[in-house]
Amino acid sequence: VNTQFQETHRPQYHFSPPSKWMNDPNGMVFYKGEYHLFYQHYPDSTVWGPMHWGHAVSKDMIHWEHLPIALYPDSLGYIFSGSAVVDVNNTSGLGTKDNPAMVAIYTYHLMEGEKAGRNDYQTQGIAYSTDNGRTWEKYKGNPVLKNPGIRDFRDPKLSWHEESKQWVLILAVDDHVELYGSKNLTSWSKLSEFGKTYGGHGGVWECPDLFPLEVDGQKKWVMLLSINPGGPNKGSATQYFIGDFDGKTFKSDYSPKTTLWVDEGADNYAGVTWANMPQSDGRRIFLGWMSNWLYANTVPTDNWRSANTIPRELSLKKLPEGIRLISQPVKELASIRGESANISGRAVKGEVDLKAGIPFDIATSELVLELDSISQSKDFGIELSNTQGQKLLIGYEATSKNFYIDRSQSGKKDFSKEFAVKHTAPRKSSAQTMKLHLFFDVASVELFADNGEVVMTDIFFPDSNYSQVKMYAKDGAVKLVSGKATQLKSIWGE
Ligand code: FRU
Repeated sequence: VNTQFQETHRPQYHFSPPSKWMNDPNGMVFYKGEYHLFYQHYPDSTVWGPMHWGHAVSKDMIHWEHLPIALYPDSLGYIFSGSAVVDVNNTSGLGTKDNPAMVAIYTYHLMEGEKAGRNDYQTQGIAYSTDNGRTWEKYKGNPVLKNPGIRDFRDPKLSWHEESKQWVLILAVDDHVELYGSKNLTSWSKLSEFGKTYGGHGGVWECPDLFPLEVDGQKKWVMLLSINPGGPNKGSATQYFIGDFDGKTFKSDYSPKTTLWVDEGADNYAGVTWANMPQSDGRRIFLGWMSNWLYANTVPTDNWRSANTIPRELSLKKLPEGIRLISQPVKELASIRGESANISGRAVKGEVDLKAGIPFDIATSELVLELDSISQSKDFGIELSNTQGQKLLIGYEATSKNFYIDRSQSGKKDFSKEFAVKHTAPRKSSAQTMKLHLFFDVASVELFADNGEVVMTDIFFPDSNYSQVKMYAKDGAVKLVSGKATQLKSIWGE
């Protein structure tokens, strides 16, 4: 058993760095049977600092092998967020046709430039690997995209646009995104801008992504856009836009005022999707950083800071209000499922203990509840608690039609004034039936409600792991049609 992953609050099946600081996931790319994950990393401290790209690989996005740091800061700056692709046709000439290069593009953040009060200290650089990401070479002609004099100019996400036969790069630039095109990954020209008057603008725009998804046989383009602060429950969050992209310009289907969120909890930020998925697979898979800049640097963990969300498959669905993004846990999670326990249907009124029928640790588990007659109770949900009386509530309030996660009494909270609160998210469906799908992992909960129409992710820090679970329904009764709890096994050190 690897004691390194046994610390208090350490997630057991979510990716977290072996030690020290982590923020955004970077450079997610699939190649030769491996899912690569890079991440914003400061190897010398548990708080943010000079950024490196940490690295790990996985065969299933669930079990991870930690690899040495891939990218170190250099004379052009710290290595901020970015993406990676496989240059299959060797357009860059950095690999060969037989052994194409994996190419990473990232933001250089030059601290000296920032300190000197300049505005042009963020530029884009590339690095490449011809040995499956094991060793990296920085491109000699860096930066490949210079800064036009805008302080926030970062987080390049690359993709190949087949119709226009070019690489397309989407970049967060202050209060909008800019699209750039290239034939060879090294020389870039600007295609268009989007966003100044669209969506949320309560903070700076960061970490964009742009990709197609089908809905009812129609191709739509989805743009992800992280914003900090300005999230629906304060601080950092990720919004999205749906529209069309013709290889040059993105046009939103919705009015500028429409603000849509990938996840309405407090702790899913800077998420982007995997590149180079096999064509036979065709899934669009998302991973986010499970924290919030409001308190990311002060959460009460000792050796390391932060974890990622579970990988989620994204899709589009036509809802009465329009086309919306749906998130669902990936099927690969099956590999960590252990014992399961059925929770029999009943009318729930007041409080019902569920732990008696669950012979495994609820702190690392999955819970699926099928409900009916949901407007018959004003407020119902699930409560996890420990022997100290600390508790976490995940529920639904009929009067406001909001899902919520209440972590106000969940455990440690002195590290931030913003932490111990209740978060809410409006329900989209108006059905009397409801499905709650929950993932608990020691210090986090991910709620996929109504088959992923509403998603909430929150972290928490109880003094001892939650060991009790009950269901409650206030002011009336809700019908539990069926329920199932499943043990989720540790991915570390077996
Ligand atoms: C988002 C972010 C990015 C930046 C990185 C720096 O969390 O602020 O915009 O590239 O973190 O670590």
